[in-house]
Amino acid sequence: MHHYDHRGHAGNAGDVWKHLLLLEAASCLFIPDRSFVYAESHVGRPEYALCTPGDWVGGIGKLWPILPKLKNFCYFDILVEMNPTGPKRYPGSAVLVLETAKRRKTDLQSEIWDADPGVAAAWQGFSGVCFHMGDGFSGVESLLELSPPGLLLIDPPYIDPSDMRRAEKLLFIARDLGWVVLLWYMMETETVPNGRLEKFELNFAKCGLDGGRWKGCVVAVAGADDELLCHLLVQSDRFIDIISNR
Ligand SMILES: C[S@@+](CC[C@H](N)C(=O)[O-])C[C@H]1O[C@@H](n2cnc3c(N)ncnc32)[C@H](O)[C@@H]1O
Repeated sequence: MHHYDHRGHAGNAGDVWKHLLLLEAASCLFIPDRSFVYAESHVGRPEYALCTPGDWVGGIGKLWPILPKLKNFCYFDILVEMNPTGPKRYPGSAVLVLETAKRRKTDLQSEIWDADPGVAAAWQGFSGVCFHMGDGFSGVESLLELSPPGLLLIDPPYIDPSDMRRAEKLLFIARDLGWVVLLWYMMETETVPNGRLEKFELNFAKCGLDGGRWKGCVVAVAGADDELLCHLLVQSDRFIDIISNR
């Protein structure tokens, strides 16, 4: 069985794009004093230490000097608040979404999966989430039948050749049940889901980020209404504009 550990990769250029769009979607969807369901099939840890060397240097590390300019984006504001003395801590996707819900005063029901026992241990005692140890594709699929629709992030490590096919299948099932779905993958991925999806692409080098051997990444969005899509387009363009002209 393949094993993937996100600890050396947290905060990389791909995480920046994924987490920026995830939190913009969450900010738009979360309504104060209402409840909302968030699901994630491949959640990783609650938090990561930013140690050197690490992929974060080419990702969030490159943006650290201009974080004050980016504070209007929920994602960067959370990072600034968590790191008053410089880059030390990087929250994982679920913690970022939880913090966004807190700020929006939304009652969040988080259903999150990971197959790694080390990740499961890291979530032990963490309140406000329902962590499930096991395969996230089948886990989320079983949740979809029981839960009201919400926001779903599918973020597999793509070390198993079946990951993209399973991610695509889950995305369309969830979308057809009324969920808003974000699917993250590297630009070089050959099999890319098609059919009524909006794709938000980031070319790392053009934006002064370093993704190592990867040219860029994509967040595919399904099930979003016009208001959400418009918000994501405006915010992603604003972000690219700021970081390309720094
Ligand atoms: C890219 S990392 C997740 C990063 C996280 N979503 C974030 O943005 O902070 C992928 C995670 O998938 C987990 N994983 C691998 N195969 C899995 C499976 N079949 N089901 C659930 N989790 C799995 C790994 O243990 C790893 O923690």
